[in-house]
Amino acid sequence: MIRMTIDGRTVSSPPHTDLLSVCLDNDIFVPHLCHLPGNPIEGGACRLCFVEVTGAARPLCACTVTVAEGMEVFTNTPRVRELQKSALRLLLSAHHIDCKACAANRRCGLQDMARRLNMRLRAAPQPGLMSDNPVDHTHPAFDYLPHRCILCGKCVRICQRHQPEVQLSFAGRGFNTLITSFGSTASASVDCAECLACIRACPVGALLLKDGSLPASP
Ligand code: FES
Repeated sequence: MIRMTIDGRTVSSPPHTDLLSVCLDNDIFVPHLCHLPGNPIEGGACRLCFVEVTGAARPLCACTVTVAEGMEVFTNTPRVRELQKSALRLLLSAHHIDCKACAANRRCGLQDMARRLNMRLRAAPQPGLMSDNPVDHTHPAFDYLPHRCILCGKCVRICQRHQPEVQLSFAGRGFNTLITSFGSTASASVDCAECLACIRACPVGALLLKDGSLPASP
């Protein structure tokens, strides 16, 4: 086992574990929206999970750090809190806030992170950041709402985990990046309707069933 300190507390974990998982497993809050438990270290898409690690030149995203013996970590210094809040503000500026009309209301990761970071969830759209692409109705099992999507990539990664033939992918570049599906075939429709892991993984209600609802928990 690897031993380290987080916020002055000694914790241990198996080697090759990502630091964010260790924090969360020990009930130490670090904001996160793109993390998939059990996934290999990757990504750093949402940029919320900043922590300070003694000896590192700058704050790091905990989900991209592999734990090491003797590591000393701080999760709630003023510096990391400011970075975490800035990252959340950036996500909010690209997210159309319409909580009352959203099926993910009260189950939304953005709401949860804003509450935990003591921030108000208010619209602060930045020109060019908010997607003006229309809702994508082409998949037979779900709709995709680009104006809510924060491009965390959880839907794509969980699809890779669940389906032998991946049904979701990123498309486009920069501010025009989207999630696209290859799922307008009959066979994909069958697989996806039985799975729905992508909708359940989405933290913000950007993937919905055709009737605008979310699936019940499995
Ligand atoms: Fe680490 Fe999203 S959870 S960057």
